Amino acid sequence: MLAIRELRTYFGSHERPIRAVDGISLTVAKGQLVALVGESGCGKSVTALSLCRLLPEPPAFFAGGSIEFDGKDVLTMKGAELRRLRGGGIAYVFQEPGASLNPVLRVGPQVREAVELHQPGTDATAEVERLLSDVGIHDPARTASAYPHELSGGMQQRAMIAMALACRPKLLVADEPTTALDVTIEAQIIDLLVDLQKKYAMGVLLITHNLGIVARAAEIVHVMYAGRIVESGSVEEILTAPSHPYTRGLLDAVPAVHGDRTVRPIDGNVPHPASFPSGCRFHPRCPRADAVCRSEMPELSSRYAARSAACHFPLVD
Ligand SMILES: Nc1ncnc2c1ncn2[C@@H]1O[C@H](COP(=O)(O)OP(=O)(O)O)[C@@H](O)[C@H]1O
Ligand SMILES: [Mg+2]
Repeated sequence: MLAIRELRTYFGSHERPIRAVDGISLTVAKGQLVALVGESGCGKSVTALSLCRLLPEPPAFFAGGSIEFDGKDVLTMKGAELRRLRGGGIAYVFQEPGASLNPVLRVGPQVREAVELHQPGTDATAEVERLLSDVGIHDPARTASAYPHELSGGMQQRAMIAMALACRPKLLVADEPTTALDVTIEAQIIDLLVDLQKKYAMGVLLITHNLGIVARAAEIVHVMYAGRIVESGSVEEILTAPSHPYTRGLLDAVPAVHGDRTVRPIDGNVPHPASFPSGCRFHPRCPRADAVCRSEMPELSSRYAARSAACHFPLVD
């Protein structure tokens, strides 16, 4: 359904580009939940926004690659076709539900507006109630008449998900949907996304900086670092036997509630895409780095296979 191939989304000038997304490939099949994981600043949101061409162009420009959605080439789409894609094909849920909901409108009318726009001819009142109960809101009528500030963060995010569903999307892009929420609510929202993915046979691209939450949800995980995918695999493979030292680092940085494992953050920071280090972009932070890592960028071991890592000294071959 979605196929991103060697996508390069840059900002600024062709001479000195900011290489926010620098050659990533991934696919999402109908009804599949795929996770994209990486620290803040590694290019996840730019990837997400590229899918519907939501970044202003310029400063953004596509320096290479392609995005195919439902057999159509997104990078050559214009006006009406892009609007159809944004409304009907791909819907988004973002990190801050409070910032995406209109504070002066009650929740019901906001969901209703999306229903009327994307499902003309349906009984909007009934559909709003159905959507709100689909996202686990037990008293849809009362919630519909509430203002966003009267709802908890978790309820606001459920309302946002209902609005996204009103578009009947084939693909839901959830960009850090739980980052602003308490951990208990976080688990509920992730479980809800999994339920809805199954119920609606919808593709989901779940974007998060937290490897801990993908275990609940995803089938396939792509780990992103400095504009590139550095490791891909099934959830089991990634969580139990990561191959890339960066993935290992992300796992070690997830706090464990039970057990005596200490949390070890990865030293240093994600490099800025205007000035990536030479060779492997992770080498300045990598405990396994050697001379070759400083000079040669490792390619993914097998570009289109499910299990793949871009490392000169992988932990698992
Ligand atoms: N409009 C822009 N102009 C220049 N650089 C940008 C712009 N938007 C994002 N970036 C840069 O692209 C990089 C990736 O950003 P982003 O995709 O938001 O990261 P993530 O979502 O993984 O935290 C960051 O270094 C960010 O500063
Ligand atoms: Mg982001």
